[in-house]
Amino acid sequence: MFGSLQSLLKETRADFVIANGENASDGLGITPEAAEGLFKSGIDVITSGNHIWQRREIIPLLERDKRILRPENYPSGVPGSGSTLIVKKEIPVAVINLQGRVNMYSIRCPFKVGETLLRQLGKKTRVIIVDFHAELPEEKEALALHLDGKISALVGTHTHVQTADEKILPGGTAYITDTGMTGPAAGVIGMKRDISIKRTLMQIPYKMEVENSASVVMGVLLSIDVASGKALSIERVRRDLPDLDSADKES
Ligand SMILES: [Fe+2]
Repeated sequence: MFGSLQSLLKETRADFVIANGENASDGLGITPEAAEGLFKSGIDVITSGNHIWQRREIIPLLERDKRILRPENYPSGVPGSGSTLIVKKEIPVAVINLQGRVNMYSIRCPFKVGETLLRQLGKKTRVIIVDFHAELPEEKEALALHLDGKISALVGTHTHVQTADEKILPGGTAYITDTGMTGPAAGVIGMKRDISIKRTLMQIPYKMEVENSASVVMGVLLSIDVASGKALSIERVRRDLPDLDSADKES
């Protein structure tokens, strides 16, 4: 998988790469080893979401490495940070990670927390990318429009399903409801179909397992005017990869 990621980065000539890694380790959470693997493959910042707490061993890395984020709007005192500023090729890039509240944990308001962060980061750079990890399209689109013109892009994550609504909002902010998933193309949002069907049918939380099938990489390619911070384009990316076992052998 890492080898395929590297060739995709070369192909797209991406200057800066953000990946949501909350499900990078067996579909739930991310271990320090997996995070290091992503960084070595060319990922500049790892964002996350509600599953970041599934692997507690990631907490020390969350506390010491400013390249890995958890949503900022968790209660104060929670380990880690939800925003970062990374200078690459002499360009400061701010990344903000927020989490929705509809059908999710009732945490602090992502709108208000986002505004507070922007007041601080907006003084340091115009290139600001938000990963809004949320369930509901309405909540994602509302936050994007609320912040339109103040951020370069708001990219939704969490549902694993890539949406076809990418656009540039009137104020110059790029938007997509959900960037999709990188993982097994088969199964139910990348998890084993039989277990997922049984969970839904019986309403019992059987332990989910990652499907073993050919994989798919999904994301978006953003072009941003560095001087103004406004988005010039947003393009959906989708690449089908060989099956998981052979893809893993590439790395
Ligand atoms: Fe999630």
